[in-house]
Amino acid sequence: MIVTTKKLFENAYGQYAVGAYNINNLEQTMGLFQGNLDSKAPFIIQISKGARSYTDKRMLEGIIRAADEVFPEAIFAVHLDHGDLESCLDCVASGFYSSVMIDASHESFDENIRITKEVVDAAHAKGIVVEAELGQLGGVEEDIVVDEANANLTNPKEAKEFVERSGCDSLAVAIGTSHGAYKFTGGQGLHFDVLAKIQERLPNYPLVMHGSSSVPADEIERINKAGGDMKGAKGVDENEFVKAVPLGVTKVNIDTDGRLVWCRVHREFFRDQPQQFDLRGPGKIFMPEYAKFIAHKNEKLGSAGKLDQVRQALA
Ligand code: G3H
Ligand code: 13P
Ligand code: ZN
Repeated sequence: MIVTTKKLFENAYGQYAVGAYNINNLEQTMGLFQGNLDSKAPFIIQISKGARSYTDKRMLEGIIRAADEVFPEAIFAVHLDHGDLESCLDCVASGFYSSVMIDASHESFDENIRITKEVVDAAHAKGIVVEAELGQLGGVEEDIVVDEANANLTNPKEAKEFVERSGCDSLAVAIGTSHGAYKFTGGQGLHFDVLAKIQERLPNYPLVMHGSSSVPADEIERINKAGGDMKGAKGVDENEFVKAVPLGVTKVNIDTDGRLVWCRVHREFFRDQPQQFDLRGPGKIFMPEYAKFIAHKNEKLGSAGKLDQVRQALA
């Protein structure tokens, strides 16, 4: 059942974070639904601009509609990840999305507010909620490259003003994470001090943590042993999610870790069976592996086991 992101946030705030997982294809979608049902968790499916144009946006939407029928017990929201004005307005008009993210974080403060407000006005008119971003994550975001050293953490005072003036429903904050598999060059970690100051000014307001993949060392080792070259890859300590939840983090974005599962399964499959060429071989291994990965993440986020609670709240 597709529900509004707002309802998921109301249920989760302060108790657990909802996992927001990016999808690009059928196998990921199957593993995603299975893993969330296995761990009895509500979840958010995220579609990036790149995912929408990978084949055709209608393909992913069709796959999600079919998954909703195949897994009738699932409770989830559908979200546009890192949209611009054009893609946000397109998703709002489509009526399929529960929420959209407008990412104008690379613009000036006032311009970010102006663009975000334009999306908020259009989205709220159709009952769709909006995530915005303030501050800049390190790493690579679509086609924008931000040097990790200059990553611009969210200013707590500005966060309050930004939310009040733009009317956005949740805010992606920069607290030290970055997208991709190479997040920290040394011993850096999350800035809980910044998060606490943001929550002080925005109590009971859902905050979003992007760039939250943990890039497990054993996964990287297996990928490298099977022909990969990902030396130095490093992510967020997934045991830190529980510390972020009471500080207002209600949505945690994870994409890279799922790609690593895909990469490891396919590299090992074709390394070990070089005579094979059928896509269904690794696909049959990937889907349950991806489901296992999702269930594990939900345990770390605290969303595992919360499905019935959400179902009752929605009734
Ligand atoms: O933040 C970026 C997400 O991981 C989506 O990645 O734009 O390559 O689909 P993508
Ligand atoms: P990762 O690259 O850490 O998985 O972050 C994903 C993300 O923030 C999607 O918006
Ligand atoms: Zn992101």
